[in-house]
Amino acid sequence: MTEVMDFDVVIVGSGLAGLRAALQIMKNDEGKLGIRVAIISKLYLMRSHSVSAEGGTSAVLYPEEGDSMELYAWDTIKGSDFLADQDVVWRFVNLATDEIRLLERIGLPWNRREDGKIEQRWFGGLSFPRATYAQDKSGFFMMRALYDTLLRYDNWERFDEYFVTSMVIEGGKFKGFTAIELKTGKMVFFKGKAGIIATGGNGQLWRITATASSTTGDGYGIAYMAGLPLEDMEFVQFHPTGLVPKGLLITEAARGEGGYLINAEGERFMKRYAPSKMELAPRDIVSRAEMMEIAQGRAATDKVSGLAHLWIDLRHLGKEKIEKKLPMIRELGLKNLGIDLAEAPLPVRPTAHYTMGGIRTDIDGKVLNDDHGSVDGLWAAGESACVSVHGSNRLGSNSTIECLVYGAIVGDGIYKYLEQHRDEDTAFPKERVDLEENRIFNGILGKESGGEDVYQIKNELKDTMESNVHVYRTEEGLRTALVKIQELKKRYRNIRVDDHRPTLNYNLQHALELGFMLEQAEVVTMGAYLRKESRGAHARLDYKVRDDQHWLVHSLAWYTPEGPQFKYIPVNITMWKPVARVY
Ligand code: FUM
Repeated sequence: MTEVMDFDVVIVGSGLAGLRAALQIMKNDEGKLGIRVAIISKLYLMRSHSVSAEGGTSAVLYPEEGDSMELYAWDTIKGSDFLADQDVVWRFVNLATDEIRLLERIGLPWNRREDGKIEQRWFGGLSFPRATYAQDKSGFFMMRALYDTLLRYDNWERFDEYFVTSMVIEGGKFKGFTAIELKTGKMVFFKGKAGIIATGGNGQLWRITATASSTTGDGYGIAYMAGLPLEDMEFVQFHPTGLVPKGLLITEAARGEGGYLINAEGERFMKRYAPSKMELAPRDIVSRAEMMEIAQGRAATDKVSGLAHLWIDLRHLGKEKIEKKLPMIRELGLKNLGIDLAEAPLPVRPTAHYTMGGIRTDIDGKVLNDDHGSVDGLWAAGESACVSVHGSNRLGSNSTIECLVYGAIVGDGIYKYLEQHRDEDTAFPKERVDLEENRIFNGILGKESGGEDVYQIKNELKDTMESNVHVYRTEEGLRTALVKIQELKKRYRNIRVDDHRPTLNYNLQHALELGFMLEQAEVVTMGAYLRKESRGAHARLDYKVRDDQHWLVHSLAWYTPEGPQFKYIPVNITMWKPVARVY
């Protein structure tokens, strides 16, 4: 018997975007309507992947020193390889500053300059050192400040370790989410007048990734399977400095503070690819350069994993500066490889890091169900949304600030919505929830023996994506990947869950995540196969140049049982005409 939890707002995801949205709703309300908010997460709240954000978050703080909104917008749009919607970028950059100030007021210990003002540092693709930071633990401190502040309010509840399996939309209106309470194994329906999807990205589709094992893109899966379009999913960011072999993040701030990238010949190879910006070119360009160095035989090889890699060298910065500004990555090198980066370079290569695409929303974060109409009562924010700030390549330091800016925008939107809709009664969609219960408990968990192993399929998927849907792509590689994904999807229909216990059944959770992952992998790969140009993070060896005449468009993908169906819509260009992108 499904338990029903009734809230005004149900937020899925307890990272920066989800917490910021909740805080905005609380701040708007201050007891006026008594809005009740549920924050659901498959993790403990403070284990959300946002805590792993390292190097910094951008905003214009010092116009008197040469920065400006125009410059910030231009950097973001040029960085996006002109695929970002420019009205969205303009709104975004203008709201970022207030978010940095808000976090300062609620207790975030930003690093300080000698004059006592907030310190900022360089990141790739910036024209001004605009990344505000707290050592190299910026995400953790942001999460802590937001969470501590939320504790002042008592009209929200957290539901840690609930895995959301689907979303119910009826008659174009959001109704709620089905979830499994991991502690008991019971199905729960979170009924809401408004919902937010803020579940982060899907880095776990790849073998080498900077993302936590929880980063399986569940929000994309939930929306896609509910019939909503995903936008620009072919654009996946590979961060240039993933620690070999696993891909753990060595923050871009290491280069922002002056670190070098060198090849096996000890050469700063970025001079060949981005002579004016060098190591501080945007990530797509640096990752392409690294893969070129590897392809052309100028890389080193890791003795244990056999992986080709480059080096990041910080020795010239000195121990004192490293300890003051980058202590965590020093610890990462020491703990994982026994290498002290103050004394020796670290082996790095591109690592899956960020999903530029996502659930299609309008400029207010409202989820769209086709090119025009929105789903009544449903929003998305942060990495799970594609509001189109980042286009085909996000600038480093623009992710956490997007979570904050869009968390706030969505929180405001929901509050206004509830002023009108709070008293509407929403019926419990019993039939739909029964179907979901049947799918999971009889369909997946009911199988006693035989069938396909979850982890085998997941491993094959990761290897396929790593080999064929990476920094450089070709028609042949993408076709190979599509055939494999379709085979894995077929095998998934016969999946087996070995653990049948109700309590903390991670085997079941992983099986459900895998279902979402396979669907997303197909969208990413098909989108990349269809896009016959190179733009930002999508680099095709067989279509080497950007083609604005045919491909200055966003992709939209809808679920069908036969595979994703694609459609393309124009990019919103306002002030900044696309030009050649040289750094
Ligand atoms: O390299 C980093 O610290 C990552 C930052 C980001 O992705 O914005």
